[in-house]
Amino acid sequence: MSKKDYKIAVMGGDGTGPEVVAEGLKVLDAASKKFGFNYKTTMLDYGGERYMKTGKTVTDEEIEGLKKYDAIFLGAIGHPDVKPGILEQGILLKTRFGLDQYINLRPVKLYDSRFTPLKDKKPQDIDFVVVRENSEGIYTGKGEFRDKGSKDEVAIQISYNTRKGVERCIRYAFEFTRKRNKRKKLTLCGKTNVLTYAWDLWQRVFDEVKKEYPDVQTDYAHVDATTMWFVKNPEWFDVIVTDNIFGDIITDLGAMIQGGMGIAAGGNINPEGVSMFEPIGGSAPKYTGKHVINPLAAICAAGMLLDNIGEPEAAKAIENSVIKVSTTKLQSLAAGKMGFSTEQVGDLVVENL
Ligand code: IPM
Ligand code: MN
Repeated sequence: MSKKDYKIAVMGGDGTGPEVVAEGLKVLDAASKKFGFNYKTTMLDYGGERYMKTGKTVTDEEIEGLKKYDAIFLGAIGHPDVKPGILEQGILLKTRFGLDQYINLRPVKLYDSRFTPLKDKKPQDIDFVVVRENSEGIYTGKGEFRDKGSKDEVAIQISYNTRKGVERCIRYAFEFTRKRNKRKKLTLCGKTNVLTYAWDLWQRVFDEVKKEYPDVQTDYAHVDATTMWFVKNPEWFDVIVTDNIFGDIITDLGAMIQGGMGIAAGGNINPEGVSMFEPIGGSAPKYTGKHVINPLAAICAAGMLLDNIGEPEAAKAIENSVIKVSTTKLQSLAAGKMGFSTEQVGDLVVENL
């Protein structure tokens, strides 16, 4: 038996979030028995329902409270009856920023050729990781309106990039590429030809830090070209490092080429603190309570969580089970088309663990 005892905060959130999280927890439970670790979960009701009842998103005290956990497992944030932006900023972004989860790690991996819309691409062609900066850029909410509502209105949204913020992200990406030890190639994805302040800094820091990693091969691609290569030659990528908004955009495309939101997971990482793992898709309100949503993304997020807290063997076993179940059992990764219910897919992953 492992002496390990973990504390995990669980935020099911909105829509189908709680349903997929329940399957993730089912797999976590089975993994803990098989790999001999203990954990205790605390269920938190942060989300749209609580906001409508109490007006609270996540308070500063609650952010403080999250710091005592080993990790956070999140379902989805976003409620059809709450104006867009309130929950996203007040819960998701506030937690990312409040816990200084400055990396958003999003693996893009195809498990079966059937799942990609790209013709002739195989699992070996689609296997890369996006390291998205998660604490700066245009997500900091800096900006202003000038003459709001008038014909001369100007809306300014600032991309805020600090030397320290860019450097810690790039350094993480180099370390990650080295540790992943696949092709040992790191691509900087930016827009140096237009965003000549922000990307000048990113490029300079990248060029400086790369000198410390002679074993890592480096490359640069503009973000627009990156989307083209994702479709045409995804096999060129190993690890990509990029800023917050570009990372947001390219990882939705990444999710599609790996089989859709049903399988795409990510981690909001603070390498020195508490990290949060989530399926990267939204709350999918139209599927709520229908037992058709694919829980594999949440299950993969639970696997990433275990890897992060120090249970890499269990994490690997979960991934292997997901690969087995998705390639040999599921008809499709899409909601309602899997050939199984949400709960049955969770059970299959447990059986194949
Ligand atoms: C994501 C989401 C969030 C983001 C939204 C919900 C604020 O799209 O996790 O990618 O833009 O980061
Ligand atoms: Mn997104």
